[in-house]
Amino acid sequence: MRKEVESDSGVIVLKNLVKKSGTELVLDGISLAAEEGKTTVIIGPSGCGKTVLMKHMIVLERPSAGEVYFKGRRIDDLRERELEKVRTQYGFLFQGGALFDSLNVYENITFPIRQHHEITDWKAIDELVKSKLAMVGLDGYQTHYPASLSGGQKKRVALARAIAMNPHVILYDEPTTGLDPIRADIINELILKLQKELDVTSVVVTHDMKSAYKIADRIIMLHEGKIVADGDADHIRNHPHPAVQQFIHGRVSEEDLAALRLGGTKFKTQYTPEDFR
Ligand SMILES: Nc1ncnc2c1ncn2[C@@H]1O[C@H](COP(=O)(O)OP(=O)(O)O)[C@@H](O)[C@H]1O
Ligand SMILES: [Mg+2]
Repeated sequence: MRKEVESDSGVIVLKNLVKKSGTELVLDGISLAAEEGKTTVIIGPSGCGKTVLMKHMIVLERPSAGEVYFKGRRIDDLRERELEKVRTQYGFLFQGGALFDSLNVYENITFPIRQHHEITDWKAIDELVKSKLAMVGLDGYQTHYPASLSGGQKKRVALARAIAMNPHVILYDEPTTGLDPIRADIINELILKLQKELDVTSVVVTHDMKSAYKIADRIIMLHEGKIVADGDADHIRNHPHPAVQQFIHGRVSEEDLAALRLGGTKFKTQYTPEDFR
């Protein structure tokens, strides 16, 4: 059994989190604490519940059972209005990055600020946008529209937007997915850089092990709704759980292989290309 987590033992704390979706048990009693100033990486195969887990950290989803704490305060039971305030302390980069196509880079980055504040000092805002864009290496792109940016650039603009309000925590959902290895590595480097320069607490969901090893202080593996491994990169590399080894080496399980072998090579009638000439 895992040790109980204390509600104030990390910036984000999940206690015995359960999420049901219809009859499916997506999360089955997850307890974890994302430590202040550290990067916690959550790995696991597609569909294992990583995104659902991350959404609970910011209460975009309410748990079926269990609790969520932010800086020692319980937040899963707050009203939407209260949650809005809590969320201003989070920056998030969700899958797809989702910039507003009809707004240029400058307007995209100032969007969250305008939602929460009446801006009077536009000069200060210009400076802020400039500094956030410089942080992701894209100062000068203020008037560009998302359509003219590459996938990697869009992610970097989304990242600049995520840090616009100086968040305490940054949540990244699959930040490198869909990028070629070099652009993926730029994102890894940016995550490391933001970590150092902004001193934030980061949680990253990924199935990219190269990225996980590079950026993580701690790696947590989800499997069938539960945490099956939790530790640093070496701990994960040497973990005896077969699901961990299969996942990190990108191997298919014996069970899945057997199912593949069963499917369909032995039909009674086998057509060859000649049959259609
Ligand atoms: N909003 C939701 N609430 C509950 N279950 C969901 C929701 N969205 C997806 N699911 C289900 O939860 C499981 C995990 O999905 P997801 O977290 O998106 O996986 P991952 O991000 O690891 O690929 C899937 O079986 C999916 O059908
Ligand atoms: Mg996901």
